[in-house]
Amino acid sequence: MQEKIIILDFGSQTTQLIARRLRDINVYCEILPYNKYPHGDASVKGVILSGSPFSVYDENAFKVDLSAIEGKLPILGICYGAQYMSYVNGGKVEPAGTREYGRAHLVEFDHSNPLLSNISDNSQVWMSHGDTITAIPDSFKVIASTETVKVAAYQSTNAPVWGVQFHPEVYHSTEGTQILKNFAADICGCKCDWNAASFIDTTVAQLKEQLGNDKVVLGLSGGVDSSVAAVLLNRAIGKNLTCIFVDHGMLRKNEFADVLRDYESLGLNVIGVDASEKFFTELAGVTEPERKRKIIGKGFIDVFDAEAHKITDVKWLAQGTIYPDCIESLSITGTVIKSHHNVGGLPEKMNLKLCEPLRLLFKDEVRRVGRQLGMPEHLITRHPFPGPGLAVRILGDITREKVAVLQEADHIFIQGLRDWKLYDKVWQAGAILLPVQSVGVMGDERTYERAVALRAVTSTDAMTADWAHLPYEFMAYVSNEIINKVKGVNRVCYDISSKPPATIEWE
Ligand code: XMP
Repeated sequence: MQEKIIILDFGSQTTQLIARRLRDINVYCEILPYNKYPHGDASVKGVILSGSPFSVYDENAFKVDLSAIEGKLPILGICYGAQYMSYVNGGKVEPAGTREYGRAHLVEFDHSNPLLSNISDNSQVWMSHGDTITAIPDSFKVIASTETVKVAAYQSTNAPVWGVQFHPEVYHSTEGTQILKNFAADICGCKCDWNAASFIDTTVAQLKEQLGNDKVVLGLSGGVDSSVAAVLLNRAIGKNLTCIFVDHGMLRKNEFADVLRDYESLGLNVIGVDASEKFFTELAGVTEPERKRKIIGKGFIDVFDAEAHKITDVKWLAQGTIYPDCIESLSITGTVIKSHHNVGGLPEKMNLKLCEPLRLLFKDEVRRVGRQLGMPEHLITRHPFPGPGLAVRILGDITREKVAVLQEADHIFIQGLRDWKLYDKVWQAGAILLPVQSVGVMGDERTYERAVALRAVTSTDAMTADWAHLPYEFMAYVSNEIINKVKGVNRVCYDISSKPPATIEWE
């Protein structure tokens, strides 16, 4: 049984980071809404309570009865989690007199406390709270203070309960990971043996058990998530998995053929479907971005569904859904900023059981699993690419001719990033075909041609992004190459907008 830590989410922005830190030290953990503790799950070794946008006194504050866990399993409260445990046990929480935000240092602490072992004197921690614990319950003792916060950390003397008012999960808490490790490994007794190889072993065994001799279909997009899901499933059920890779005609230059070849060499049972004619016909004259997306989304579902129906007796639809998608759909505060699913609507339409073997992994963990499965590096480090492809990078209506122009410009940009060793330094990049023409001069001729915008961003999760500060020499090179080599383009611009307020894609 896979031992785990449960993180109860009270709505903090940094809840995911707690999971990241634990996973980094090979501790398997799951985030659940604050009121969804899995009572009766014997694999849980400890519980972490996250921070929250609320104050414990707020009418709407998330409150939960922890009496069934308290005393039985170690609990660590972080920020609100710490204040909440203190408050419900009889302590006092009040608005902080001075703002407790930013860097602070553990100036005084109990080195012998297991939560704080191997922590240096003056260790830097990150505070971010409006309330503060002003009195702890009689059964609690203070185990660390900062310059201004007396109760930076506490421990209960009659149950295995700890609390920290700082955020060990954020990068600015320089020894925060050690604190989380002290909790998970020393206090909860986790073995810290969760890694890509162990994930593959347990998942392959589970998939064999779950799927038996059933047939499964999976939609490949060329992206890392669906590719890794396919290879993992292939390892578990081999030829009972059929992958379908649909070309809607708006992929990158040569992408369909290249990726199909990659998939075949990975031993996948894959059907490539060139459905470009259908998509170009349906998209003719459509300029409105959301309509384009809808046409492509629906067209994709139709093509996929038709192909899947050619296979007899399919019982399952597999998808490369990953953890951030699931956490978003679990979101307790309901603030889903944007969710993109290439195959949204597919499960409803197909009436198949859903299999999502990566649903508990973060993106970089998916990559590690892919490497461990022996997949080629270029498939694993590939930039994200939107499901509707170049259709959302051609402003205005879409024609084959425009796609061909954009494919060339995009190819020069992406190949340039690779040649200049910049590809892995950016989160994603691409070219956008603008619906304007401008005047130029080539030789002695006046030109009146198209403008292309280049977009390259840095990001960690695509929720926020900054424009990549690419070297001028590189931009000069790319601009020259595009204008010289791509017929019909006489101007290249670079998009210097961050997200928010802009988005990564132009449409
Ligand atoms: P935005 O434009 O919202 O993009 O900043 C965030 C990330 O999502 C990708 N994206 C999509 N992916 N279908 C997808 O599968 C879509 O319709 C879609 N729109 C945007 C985008 O490339 C970026 O990585």
